[in-house]
Amino acid sequence: MTQTIKILTLFPEVFDSFLGAGLLGKAVERSVVRVERIDIRAFTSDVHRTVDDAPYGGGAGMLMKAEPAVEALESAGEGTRILLTPRGEPFTQELARTLAGRDTLILLCGRYEGIDERVRRFVDMELSLGDFVLHGGEVAAMAVIESVVRLAPTFLGNEASLCEESHAAGLLEYPQYTRPPSFRGLQVPEVLLSGNHERIRRWRRGQALLATKTKRPDLFEKLELGDEDRELLDEAEMEAAAKDPP
Ligand SMILES: C[S@@+](CC[C@H](N)C(=O)[O-])C[C@H]1O[C@@H](n2cnc3c(N)ncnc32)[C@H](O)[C@@H]1O
Repeated sequence: MTQTIKILTLFPEVFDSFLGAGLLGKAVERSVVRVERIDIRAFTSDVHRTVDDAPYGGGAGMLMKAEPAVEALESAGEGTRILLTPRGEPFTQELARTLAGRDTLILLCGRYEGIDERVRRFVDMELSLGDFVLHGGEVAAMAVIESVVRLAPTFLGNEASLCEESHAAGLLEYPQYTRPPSFRGLQVPEVLLSGNHERIRRWRRGQALLATKTKRPDLFEKLELGDEDRELLDEAEMEAAAKDPP
């Protein structure tokens, strides 16, 4: 299946290099994903092509008007309609997986002080990139696109790397190293140079558990650890304490 992603934005040019570079650029070139940009300003009817107006009740800044945004949404046709907004549901890897299974995603990017509240009635989902405020929805749309497209089976050609990476199974990824084995006095852990696949597997699992426990206790709390996991976590904690005694 070739997924289609339609981006509704006031700044289509923001996506130029994003859609042309790296693996995403290749995915677009090879039609792993079809991306369309729809300029919301094209759906204005006045000579000034007005897309914003002052908020009723007063207050700072301008709001995106409902009519052009909704007409742009309707012109995009069928698909999962998503409004990018800091008031939305936090975007997660699980949601990326859900969205990767949809034929067509329609991403509506806000600007200014946001969009007229009535536009919410015309979308299926509201997603937030996190608890911070961006200038516009374009960067959030890019994050959604990148995380969704890289889950396409034909994208990376490396299913294993998707299974083991952070958030795939509720865990952060284990630490990774590449050459050289020693950098400014910092050594690659001996086990990774051992060639012993079972030792490496156990070490990585212990490190992934330890990283999750220390960096993201909220995720760690949700894990159900088996006997082996508890043992590997103990080992990782002992190794960390030996390296960096309290
Ligand atoms: C300056 S923001 C508007 C913020 C709005 N006044 C509020 O306080 O909720 C302009 C646009 O940027 C996008 N945006 C800002 N922060 C975002 C976030 N954390 N996640 C997704 N989109 C965001 C939205 O599309 C929003 O309409």
